[in-house]
Amino acid sequence: MIATPPSASLQLTDDGKLKHFLSVEHCSRSLLEDILNTAAGFVEVGDRSIKKVPLLRGKTVVNLFFEASTRTRTTFELAAKRLSADVLNIDIAKSATSKGESLMDMLWNLEAMSSDMFVVRHSDSGAPSFIAEHVTPNVAVINAGDGRHAHPTQAMLDMYTIRHYKQRFEGLKVAIVGDVLHSRVARSQIHALNILGAEEVRVIGPRTLIPVDIDALGVSVYSDLSQGLKDVDVVIALRLQKERMDSALLPSESEFFRLYGLNNDRLRPAKPDAIIMHPGPINRGVEIASEVADGERAVILHQVTFGIAVRMAVMSMCIAGQDAGGMA
Ligand code: CP
Repeated sequence: MIATPPSASLQLTDDGKLKHFLSVEHCSRSLLEDILNTAAGFVEVGDRSIKKVPLLRGKTVVNLFFEASTRTRTTFELAAKRLSADVLNIDIAKSATSKGESLMDMLWNLEAMSSDMFVVRHSDSGAPSFIAEHVTPNVAVINAGDGRHAHPTQAMLDMYTIRHYKQRFEGLKVAIVGDVLHSRVARSQIHALNILGAEEVRVIGPRTLIPVDIDALGVSVYSDLSQGLKDVDVVIALRLQKERMDSALLPSESEFFRLYGLNNDRLRPAKPDAIIMHPGPINRGVEIASEVADGERAVILHQVTFGIAVRMAVMSMCIAGQDAGGMA
């Protein structure tokens, strides 16, 4: 599997429209704004008694989740159904890959059933791009999270949430707290915030959980929580990715919570109207206290709701890009 970021030409048509959505990197500000504006038009579909629009009627979307997921898988499924697509959820554990079938053989079989879109989560960085390079033209691929590399639709639903509450990106200071090292979400958020014009993106965490070359992404690095949170407008807590972690990186979860866990007292340096976000799943008492997760400034469940509209936007834009020719 490749582990380098996908090239712009792999996910964009000649005239700059989406045909796959693999990474936020290389996207223009206007394309990201198009995603947010398209999503804004879909939010009210969720408030209707019949939550459907016909944009993807007759299209077949296949969810391929090689890693566990609650939010991303279900909101992609709901998004596809609200767009009137037919949806297949492949149970990887019960698929023929368990009998030795290769990933590409499985995909070619699914293509033979006239699938129009694959939504892919995989533990290998680069897996969705690899698939996008090898699928039949006119089949769209959306990255639903790959290894430590990227989680572009999560980043875009986070951008939607920030814009909803703060109305802009200019002048905003955003702090991302915790296990940045293992976080595909943080990487995609940093790219998106910089492209959309946030004033400052800070990462806060123990040195062992911050990538050494993170400054190259245009962020300020803090190991002191109180200094890092000073005057920020948005605080994003990250889950400790225990499944990806070498145990030597942290003394213990309780030590992490003592130094970096968000509680009301430790959030005092942030602006009083700062919003508190988390991509989920949350670990209460590890990266966030219940008083914050359930508090007035938390917008964590709103992120999930907005995620449906953002995924509807990305799916409909990719299908439109593919239908328009999808030429690289
Ligand atoms: N935020 C996120 O990707 O959650 P899931 O792992 O539940 O999809």
